[in-house]
Amino acid sequence: AERTLVLVKPDGVSRGLVGEVISRLERKGLTLVAAELRTLEKATAETHYGEHASKPFFGELVEFITSGPLVALVVEGPRAIEGTRGLMGVTDPVKAVPGSIRGDYALEIGQNLVHGSDSPESAAREIDLFFPGLKG
Ligand code: GTP
Ligand code: MG
Repeated sequence: AERTLVLVKPDGVSRGLVGEVISRLERKGLTLVAAELRTLEKATAETHYGEHASKPFFGELVEFITSGPLVALVVEGPRAIEGTRGLMGVTDPVKAVPGSIRGDYALEIGQNLVHGSDSPESAAREIDLFFPGLKG
């Protein structure tokens, strides 16, 4: 089965939506294989979002993702990466369809509640960043 990294971002934790996100992942049929509440160091955030280092919003993105505790999850299941991205909805929560997590619970692109790895390569890199040594 495939694995992916999911983050319930600091807005999700502060708004009390951790259980809601985990419920939706579980109801979809994904299995939790790791979970941790933590506040990211700036360096970890910059590595995680390294592909966006040259974007104008990078500073804000790092500031936000380090602003408070987040919940990092590894979930597993058939086509877990695509399945999770579908549950999340598109990046801009106003464009995300109702029924998706972002579509149901968010309004601002910078505070869109969740992250999910976007490819097998990203998933491998991100799982190793958050949970080094996690057993297959
Ligand atoms: P992640 O799962 O968080 O990686 O989101 P994504 O894959 O749907 O989007 P992407 O990787 O392109 O962007 C990463 C994050 O940067 C997004 O989730 C947004 O929170 C943030 N972001 C993207 N575009 C903008 C923007 O134009 N302005 C601001 N402030 N934030 C943005
Ligand atoms: Mg992304």
